[in-house]
Amino acid sequence: MPPILQVRELYKFFDKREGASPVLRDVSFAVEAGEFVCIMGPSGSGKSTLLHMLSGLDSPTAGSIELSGKNLKTLSDGERTLLRRAQIGYVFQFFNLMPNLNLLENVGLPLAIQGQHPGDHAETIRGLLARLGLQGKEEQFPHQLSGGEMQRTSIARALAGGQPLLLCDEPTGNLSQKAGAEVMAFLRQICDQDHKTVVLVTHNPRDATFADRVLFLVDGALDQEHALRGPGLTVERIHEQLAALHI
Ligand SMILES: Nc1ncnc2c1ncn2[C@@H]1O[C@H](COP(=O)(O)OP(=O)(O)O)[C@@H](O)[C@H]1O
Ligand SMILES: [Mg+2]
Repeated sequence: MPPILQVRELYKFFDKREGASPVLRDVSFAVEAGEFVCIMGPSGSGKSTLLHMLSGLDSPTAGSIELSGKNLKTLSDGERTLLRRAQIGYVFQFFNLMPNLNLLENVGLPLAIQGQHPGDHAETIRGLLARLGLQGKEEQFPHQLSGGEMQRTSIARALAGGQPLLLCDEPTGNLSQKAGAEVMAFLRQICDQDHKTVVLVTHNPRDATFADRVLFLVDGALDQEHALRGPGLTVERIHEQLAALHI
């Protein structure tokens, strides 16, 4: 089995002027199917940019990304979109739920976009919502929910289409510590029980303790030498490493 993600010598420049520095430089790493990988870096270090490129929403200035063995660069825009829909569930910091759709409809939206009839998957969708602690709220709208409930809805949405890879961009950034810990516990459970692959970017050491492996983005480069491995990572251990890397 090839890794589900293989990233090689990735560079991203937004500023194309000569002498400008890249947001990401020479980033290489692989993620095996079923792994839970956390990439840590401070605000502005290129975490969201990296996830956009992993999902094919943005393209690198140089370097390559293979998703499930397919080099994104070699695909047409249409093929890349289809691959993303089939392979990736995205969890955002600001949830990105549709305000005018209830929870059932929000979670069913990726299926509708895939050309399926969400009604044919009603039991699956209800099951996902129940599993994420949202039983009884199926007909409610996002504004009626707490932040934690909204983020759990967006995790259900990321799972609804059966995609094997979840990309999570600071999923606890807008949540209380308690709601954030619940969201992280669900992501861990989804990795362990459903064999999903989770790639999480965050600046939150608490979130990183849930990962199998923690990588650090330092000045646009991924520091492999100081990667940490779980299980049993503690917030203290992660703080120590951040201090050692001056980030
Ligand atoms: N579309 C864009 N155009 C120009 N600069 C961008 C764009 N997206 C991000 N950047 C810049 O790239 C850097 C990294 O941003 P981002 O990936 O959002 O960081 P993070 O998610 O780690 O906070 C920042 O300096 C940001 O201003
Ligand atoms: Mg970001």
